[in-house]
Amino acid sequence: MSEVIGVIGAGYVGAATAAGFAHLGYSVAVVDTDAAKVDGILCGRSGLTEPGLDDLIEAAHENSTITASTSYSVLTDATIVFVCVPTPMRSDGAADLTFIDTALSGVEPYLEPDDVVVLKSTVPVGTGDAVAERLGSAGVHVVNNPEFLREGHTVEDFLAPDRVVVGGDPAAIKRVTALYRSLHSPIVEVDRASAELAKYACNSFLALKLSFVDELATLAERVGADITEVTDVMAHDDRIGSHFLSPGPGWGGSCFPKDTRALISTATSVERPMRTLAAAVDANEAQTQRIAALIADRLDEPDAAVTLLGLTFKAGTADLRESPALDIALTLSKQGVRVFAHDPTITSAESLVARMPLENPADPSQPTLPVILADPYALDVDTRVIAIVTEWNDYRSLQWSLVAARCPHAVVIDTRGIVDAALVRSAGLQLYRIGIAE
Ligand code: UGA
Repeated sequence: MSEVIGVIGAGYVGAATAAGFAHLGYSVAVVDTDAAKVDGILCGRSGLTEPGLDDLIEAAHENSTITASTSYSVLTDATIVFVCVPTPMRSDGAADLTFIDTALSGVEPYLEPDDVVVLKSTVPVGTGDAVAERLGSAGVHVVNNPEFLREGHTVEDFLAPDRVVVGGDPAAIKRVTALYRSLHSPIVEVDRASAELAKYACNSFLALKLSFVDELATLAERVGADITEVTDVMAHDDRIGSHFLSPGPGWGGSCFPKDTRALISTATSVERPMRTLAAAVDANEAQTQRIAALIADRLDEPDAAVTLLGLTFKAGTADLRESPALDIALTLSKQGVRVFAHDPTITSAESLVARMPLENPADPSQPTLPVILADPYALDVDTRVIAIVTEWNDYRSLQWSLVAARCPHAVVIDTRGIVDAALVRSAGLQLYRIGIAE
């Protein structure tokens, strides 16, 4: 166990990678430009709502196997450095590699011959080769090792991955795969371009599957079918599989939207357009707007209000990036609708503003943000629609009689298929479930 691990970036991926390797017994040094994240790690905390992550970081902190700094000099002794920085979407859809470039410039002075730089960030095909060329003259090796960590499950996915993918120069691959050996997960060695493309392929394929199911749900409603029964039949086919078959308000998050567009951009740039994926992205935007329209259509009075249950892009995370719930809230408020919202991770208007992924939330031209409810029962009396947009467990077992007592004329719109229809109806409320003809 002579390797010393360096990690650049302490976001979801970097923090889980650092904590995971520390848990496996390695000595880990983390660098991040955000002093709050660094201070957190130095006190044994990640600052993220990831199950199990703080336990691992705290244990590593107690064993002195993790350190962190805003200075790249903390990586001086590292022999294998994982680059875990964001690759956000540029306005033209392509991946923005500025943070990768900054990370490499930061670590370069501390790299020695035979060190390995591992690209864990999601990067377009060709990035690994370009980095290998940049660092090759210093005798530094480069390996692509894309991450497949779901937010809310990063520790679990790090410690029990479906597969570990590595691509790049063979001697360095051996050293990187050795780090993961004790996990006993399949290790897939591929060439660099394939590692890069495979990461985009996985996220894009899942997005495609979801867009298909979302459109199928709309069709099911129209022709008198039940999407849950249809997907149950599909899931029995091993070739289709049972995952990612639940329709929703559209897929979001910090990964699918940017990765699908980046793959479309790569494909277009080499004149090999991915028509299926472009259609999935279009369908996804239409799905979110369809839900906003479904809600708007049920507002029969000028004062009518809407309550959205859930604002994060999925349950189990505090992340609001590319959240369909937020898109729906903003679309409705632009139409002049009074929008209220509850989310277990958002306690106040201030905490929403602090986490809003808008350029400038204080900008008066931005649509009004939803009013945050302290609990899902604190409904405005003029609420006409209560829409479940994020599948938090809290909303599976609401006391519908309390809701009905306050807002007897409200329609419940379940975009995630999580409520017990009989309970909602027995409270006297109308129910609309996406994908199910009522
Ligand atoms: C995704 C991938 O699942 C990870 O493997 C990958 O590592 C990560 O992106 C990344 O590239 O970093 P994540 O963004 O955390 O992880 O979200 P998912 O759990 O995959 O969900 C994506 C979207 O699909 C969410 O909006 C979710 O609500 C939606 N979804 C998922 C559905 O609407 N229905 C489903 O049945 C499943």
